[in-house]
Amino acid sequence: MVQRTLSIIKPDAVRKNAVGAIIKCFEDAGLRIAAMKMLHLSNEEAGRFYIVHRERPFYKDLAAFMSEGPIVVLVLEGEDAIARLRKTMGATNPKDAAPGTIRAMFAENIERNAVHGSDSEASAGYEIPFFFPAIEMH
Ligand code: CDP
Ligand code: MG
Repeated sequence: MVQRTLSIIKPDAVRKNAVGAIIKCFEDAGLRIAAMKMLHLSNEEAGRFYIVHRERPFYKDLAAFMSEGPIVVLVLEGEDAIARLRKTMGATNPKDAAPGTIRAMFAENIERNAVHGSDSEASAGYEIPFFFPAIEMH
């Protein structure tokens, strides 16, 4: 099934000049870019994006990290795009991420882990319109 999913190249990866390398991983995995932009979230916006984690102990730090610098936000499209992106990203903790995955190559630690990917159709349904109106998707 052709799906759309939301990815973020996080501030740690943007700062280390890994945007191009990470986008190449997406394309090599068969994901097509349907929308893309760079922006710098406020702490409040980052907290709203990750609202599902509001009760988690890492929530405050996560909002601070995600608003510390610019990010690149993308809608990726392809066959089983949600699972395909998650596989390409690797595990949340880079110590557990399979070799060759984006997080194995670019993540610093469990928080500063280079990329985000929607984890379900429900989360993609919240996350894609959080950043992109229909007119910006191609
Ligand atoms: O991003 P992913 O879906 O793999 O993981 P998550 O459990 O949805 O957590 C969202 C984000 O919170 C992670 O990608 C990390 O940046 C951060 N996090 C953290 O700082 N400490 C943890 N123990 C777990 C997640
Ligand atoms: Mg998640």
